[in-house]
Amino acid sequence: MNKNAKSVVFSGVQPTGNLHLGNYLGAIKNFVELQKKMECIYCVVDLHAITTFQDPKELKKNILDTTAGFIACGIDFKKSIIFNQSSVSGHAELAWIFNCVSRVGWMSRMTQFKEKAGKNKENASVGLYVYPNLMAADILLYKATHVPVGDDQKQHLELARDIAQKFNNDFKVKDFFPIPEPLIQKKLSRVMSLRDGTKKMSKSEESDYARIDLQDGEDEIVKKIKKAKTDSSPIPSKIDDLKNRPEALNLLNIYSFITDTTMEKTLDKMAGKDFSKFKNELSDVLVATVCPIGKKIKELKKDSKYLLQILQEGANKADLIAQKNVKMVKEIVGFITHQ
Ligand code: TRP
Repeated sequence: MNKNAKSVVFSGVQPTGNLHLGNYLGAIKNFVELQKKMECIYCVVDLHAITTFQDPKELKKNILDTTAGFIACGIDFKKSIIFNQSSVSGHAELAWIFNCVSRVGWMSRMTQFKEKAGKNKENASVGLYVYPNLMAADILLYKATHVPVGDDQKQHLELARDIAQKFNNDFKVKDFFPIPEPLIQKKLSRVMSLRDGTKKMSKSEESDYARIDLQDGEDEIVKKIKKAKTDSSPIPSKIDDLKNRPEALNLLNIYSFITDTTMEKTLDKMAGKDFSKFKNELSDVLVATVCPIGKKIKELKKDSKYLLQILQEGANKADLIAQKNVKMVKEIVGFITHQ
């Protein structure tokens, strides 16, 4: 990589529903930390959202909700750029150029498409298929060098690296695009469903009991943790003994991450206890962390003008960088650009 390139962080969250504990612990908590060290751009990826049909009214609401969530979790919109993807046209423009750089063979290896499209592949949108090219465009539009993602996005990031490399090679512009590095949290890269410890916590799982929304009240959190699936053995003292106990592992992981301790220390403290006791402690720390964030989200949502203004200012800042880079890309590709 070009040694003179400065570090830029880019990441995106889809506005497809309420933010939940998985979004917070798996991504946004880390976004907040990274602001201290690097220039950061955080995007509400509405273009990605419409790869599966979104009700227009809901989409608008979800874009504002996600923005409120970013701010409530501690992203500083004065320091970092927060904006919605569709308001900066460079994303779509660069995505088209990348559609022509990326290979069909690369696309057809993407495992997330296979999962999301399910059995009825023929009926999936073309957008869903080429979605990883748009994600590469998001990142490279700002020449981002670091991308915090969950491990389910690792393959997409590798594709973005391949696209950057192929573009630089094909057009003989060595180092034009940096090769972006994934930042994958080692401690906790995935929060799992509370109903099935082998599935990621997600907005799409039907049962509300599978996830904790950041806007859940105290009663809901307590109830959901009480109902969370576990097994009948007590908490072990060694991590190895959690191997075949995904639900137990998940709850202990969540506890460790929220309290900023290691799994070892959590097990030292909890070993031998049964889950009903541990769940009380888990509920307490969750309520203490999640409820203030939820309250802030609800407050921010009341003032949509304020949120719109933040998005507008973010879009202006992002667009300045994007337009400059798109113009360079167009020149490199051989298009005619105008003043
Ligand atoms: N695809 C990501 C997800 O579903 C969201 C995303 C879009 C993203 N563009 C990105 C993440 C760029 C990191 C960088 O979670």
